[in-house]
Amino acid sequence: MKNHIRFSESEQALFLLDQRLLPDKEKWFVCRRVRDVVEAIQTLVIRGAPALGVVAAYGCCLAAASQDHQDPEWQKVVNDKLNQLARARPTAVNLSYIVARMRGYWKADADIGLKDLCWMWHQLAKDVHLEDISANKAMGRIGEKLLADGQTVMTHCNAGALATGGYGTALGVIRAAKSSGKIITVIANETRPFLQGSRLTAYELHKDEIPVKIACDNAAGLLMAKGLVDSVIVGADRIAANGDTANKIGTYSLALLAREHSIPFYVAAPSSTFDPETRTGEDIPIEARPDAEVTRLGGQQITPAGVPVYNFAFDVTPSRLISSIITEKGLLEPPYKQSIAEIVAKRYN
Ligand code: MRU
Repeated sequence: MKNHIRFSESEQALFLLDQRLLPDKEKWFVCRRVRDVVEAIQTLVIRGAPALGVVAAYGCCLAAASQDHQDPEWQKVVNDKLNQLARARPTAVNLSYIVARMRGYWKADADIGLKDLCWMWHQLAKDVHLEDISANKAMGRIGEKLLADGQTVMTHCNAGALATGGYGTALGVIRAAKSSGKIITVIANETRPFLQGSRLTAYELHKDEIPVKIACDNAAGLLMAKGLVDSVIVGADRIAANGDTANKIGTYSLALLAREHSIPFYVAAPSSTFDPETRTGEDIPIEARPDAEVTRLGGQQITPAGVPVYNFAFDVTPSRLISSIITEKGLLEPPYKQSIAEIVAKRYN
């Protein structure tokens, strides 16, 4: 997979491969202002928790670059724009975590001029992007040891290169297994309503010649009962201090099914996805998205007009259903409280 997030310093523009159009069209969405970045995040041009963190970092660069240093209010305007970025989507904690990190460097040098702030943030955004890719690769090296040659892994949503700075969390583990000579087949759950599994996971694995088969979300129980699934690996949008994990809607049901069938259920996530401020899964904000994502398909109304729908984008898997959490700093085993506190202590703050 080629880089799907590109920042041009000369043009002061962020180029994002538009994930709404994949796999049909490979088109770039251009962000020149913070409001373009917020729109890209909210309309799912770009999605996936770690990718949102990377894009937020470049968004901070655009926030500063669009100011006039002679405007006495420029600091206040930049601050407001950072708030807009941090709040663009509520569940993926990487977004607010990275904005807080960028703001932290600014606060540490509060008298910095606009030109230097732009330069500093651009260096930092590049670091955030590269760190995410290297965290994914480290997770891959650690996680692939859990898989044996010839196994089949079920995954949900898209936790691949497209959901991160590059390489992927859950799919990074599969890529690393391939690099060490193992043949792993992936079952990509379709993932209604935005179809991140059938459109995006299948797109990137197929491109990289990794065997992938798409299944409807509601086939998971049958496939497990038939013995066709050796393990489940998913990503995460936010992991609470006790290990409860928010991820794409449907993940909780998969974890329950995996437990019933004695199949290991793994979460792969970088340390930027842990939220020590959130005590348990009950405290994680769950995004409700527009009804139209459920009521319409391919521009066509598919439900009776006027019938209300549920469209929660995420659910929470209790930590007791998670066999291990694969992070760039090591494999966490239950109970998670202590090991999560240690991981968080070791990351940038
Ligand atoms: O609504 P999305 O597509 O942003 O949801 C993404 C997920 O749920 C992913 O599984 C999660 O962000 C982990 S991505 C490495």
